[in-house]
Amino acid sequence: MPPILEIRDLSIHFVQYERGFRRRRLPVIRDLSLTIQPGQVVAVVGASGSGKSLLAHGILDLLPYNGQMEGSILYQGEPLSPRRAEQLRGDEIVLIPQGVTYLDPLMKVGDQIRRGRKDPDSRARCTAALQRYGVGPEVEALYPFELSGGMARRVLIASAVVDRPKLIITDEPTPGLDAKAAGRILGHLRELAEEGAGVLLVTHDLELALTIAHRVTVFYAGETIEEAAAQDFSSSAGLRHPFTRALWRAMPQHGFHPLSGAQPYPGTVDTGCPFAGQCSRCRPDCVQTQRIPLRPWRGGAVRCLFPEEEASS
Ligand SMILES: Nc1ncnc2c1ncn2[C@@H]1O[C@H](COP(=O)(O)OP(=O)(O)O)[C@@H](O)[C@H]1O
Ligand SMILES: [Mg+2]
Repeated sequence: MPPILEIRDLSIHFVQYERGFRRRRLPVIRDLSLTIQPGQVVAVVGASGSGKSLLAHGILDLLPYNGQMEGSILYQGEPLSPRRAEQLRGDEIVLIPQGVTYLDPLMKVGDQIRRGRKDPDSRARCTAALQRYGVGPEVEALYPFELSGGMARRVLIASAVVDRPKLIITDEPTPGLDAKAAGRILGHLRELAEEGAGVLLVTHDLELALTIAHRVTVFYAGETIEEAAAQDFSSSAGLRHPFTRALWRAMPQHGFHPLSGAQPYPGTVDTGCPFAGQCSRCRPDCVQTQRIPLRPWRGGAVRCLFPEEEASS
């Protein structure tokens, strides 16, 4: 069976006009590759501003008007052209976006989830989808503005998964939810994967990602800097890139050690490693090398000239 989703060398840039006439190209995502097999949850984890939401929208051809994309995206082995993306969107492939503003403000919750269908089967599936997230049937008659933020998020997710999609792309699925509601949503995403769907989980929260992901792609300033299996995170020694180890050390159960400095704005680092400015192991080669490749390393991949050895931590 072909992978559900295969992204090869994807780059996204924006075209901007300086002072109204000088055209400027602003790269945001560079050479990203990612594969999701049926039944797999793949997490993309990175700090805010690293390009995660753009990736989620780019796959479905939903970039802002000035965004452009290069590289290839295959869905079930066939190119996902803009036309095909439009046909499959909301049906076989769903995006659960970061903001709840994507709910239609003029349509009652139930009508939105049923996509206007009124037959008994659609009604039953709608009620069951909401019930799964602890939302009672009375909510079906409400408009989005009558919902609390957490309730709106649950409705958004119920609406996305009601028709059993094959690929679920979810962008920061649980902000503003208590641990119980968040756990329910994550558990359900994992269940959908166990039933054969592919799930792309986009988040800044490594801890959350590790609760359900099989594989983790770590993003930094628009580049993949590491690919790892979820179990590699059981100790920092299993990880490969200094940034991934820093993320690991910043987790509450590993001491909350912050990383000083900030990620550069995507596209502002032309030469060398984008993490150089924050890396305690940085050497002259890291800054002078034109382009550091992502290469296979200990069963995963790493974009670092001097990846961490397993023994050191
Ligand atoms: N329409 C746009 N024009 C120019 N830059 C944009 C546009 N949309 C987003 N960006 C920039 O792209 C970068 C990545 O954004 P985003 O994907 O939202 O990051 P994340 O979801 O990881 O927080 C940010 O630095 C953001 O400012
Ligand atoms: Mg985002």
